[in-house]
Amino acid sequence: MTDARRPLIAGNWKMNGSATFATELAQGVSVGAPGVLAELLVCPPSVLIPTVAAALNEGVALGGQDCHAAESGAHTGENSAEMLKDAGCGYVIVGHSERRTDHGETNEHVCAKAEAAHRAGLCAVICIGETDADRDTGKTLDVISAQLAGSVPAASNAANMVIAYEPVWAIGTGRTPTNDDVQEVHAHIRAVVKASRGDAAAAGVRLLYGGSMKPENAEGLLALADVDGGLIGGASLKAADFLAIAASCP
Ligand code: 13P
Repeated sequence: MTDARRPLIAGNWKMNGSATFATELAQGVSVGAPGVLAELLVCPPSVLIPTVAAALNEGVALGGQDCHAAESGAHTGENSAEMLKDAGCGYVIVGHSERRTDHGETNEHVCAKAEAAHRAGLCAVICIGETDADRDTGKTLDVISAQLAGSVPAASNAANMVIAYEPVWAIGTGRTPTNDDVQEVHAHIRAVVKASRGDAAAAGVRLLYGGSMKPENAEGLLALADVDGGLIGGASLKAADFLAIAASCP
């Protein structure tokens, strides 16, 4: 982390909650927000976005968990980036491994969704990460390079994208890479951004770590030189845990 990059602590609530739960969680996060230096972001299920928008204070950003690549049209069940923007979102997660696995999303789909986010004026949180088979066979950095090449739109910059490194095998499992392994991947991501998009993009882009981040391990992960925040699943469903992670930012 450097002073040039404000840490971002993002909660991906996934498919959890009800209107009552979401209201209480949003209020709990809002109450603690003035005490933390990091930027806070919550990403509720789309149906709960208006509820959360009404319950959040202005110090907490709101995001979607996914968007369609098209602006509007005959796409039953989908939400466009423009709709998320209209509902008060500033961010949208794209390319989460659960979308890649459950919905067959490819790098090309993810890139199109990130372009849609940019078109709508949203910051795209682009997710990448290796499987345990990739790591076991020494392919982690190659997989990361291929995902970056395929998923990140050409017009991305430090203002309109955040990259989240989420090893698939660490999500919801309680397992995490070593801090050295996380730093190695994050440094690689920044080097790829530098080579493809230049010094300013590399110096400014925020790189989040995701996968079983919790209050107990956040401090070490967030202290790494190229980790600029976290994308948190399970621990983002408790305001106290989410805020404790945010308070761990150096
Ligand atoms: P967990 O924090 O539950 O492992 O989830 C991480 C994640 O997938 C965030 O997008």
